[in-house]
Amino acid sequence: MTAREFYGPAYDQLRQAEKQVLEEIRRGRKTWRENGRQAPVLYTASRIKTPDSMCRKLTKRGLPATRQAALTQVRDAVGVRVICAFQDDVYLVAKWLEERPDFVVLETKDYISYPKENGYRSYHLILGIRAGAGKGMTVEVQLRTIAIDFWASLEHQLKYKKEVPHEGLIREELRRCADEIASVDLSMETIRELLAGSF
Ligand code: GTP
Ligand code: MG
Repeated sequence: MTAREFYGPAYDQLRQAEKQVLEEIRRGRKTWRENGRQAPVLYTASRIKTPDSMCRKLTKRGLPATRQAALTQVRDAVGVRVICAFQDDVYLVAKWLEERPDFVVLETKDYISYPKENGYRSYHLILGIRAGAGKGMTVEVQLRTIAIDFWASLEHQLKYKKEVPHEGLIREELRRCADEIASVDLSMETIRELLAGSF
């Protein structure tokens, strides 16, 4: 089944919501450039959750695998990922999105200040779209540094594997790498400040 078939008339609204968030990020980019800030957003990626993945999530939660449940019980049918160079850029972009009048913040999870047990670090936002063509939809935004994104893509593979030999060791190593990456991210920020002569 295609996403358009599954989401029905709401599919276009989901697409519009996705577009609105990406558009605000584009507007932000322009503003930051004008203020002399070096590209806080390296790139973005976005997706509409596939019917397969949506149905799996609904079933896992004991909900019916229907369009209705998908649109009312799940808030990440639209997902936008924002990849930044530095950790402070993540907060800058998050703040920008949180302040847009067309969006309302329904939830924030700051896994950067409060990393998950496995070492995962990202800033998550659930935005409600209050105006425009995507009105009424919700969008999950994940903001993270490029170094952590690299880590997360590898760590993500663990979730899809059933039997993982040396799983304990792998988890331990991933955790260690996440901590090291976070430390490197901070050092990079400091170096950037030194280069900018602001110390
Ligand atoms: P979901 O049911 O997956 O939406 O989780 P949640 O509602 O508890 O939300 P949370 O904000 O914790 O996670 C949302 C999304 O962030 C996930 O679907 C993943 O894409 C990503 N994510 C969260 N935790 C991890 C993690 O430990 N590792 C990786 N690689 N991605 C994660
Ligand atoms: Mg979620």
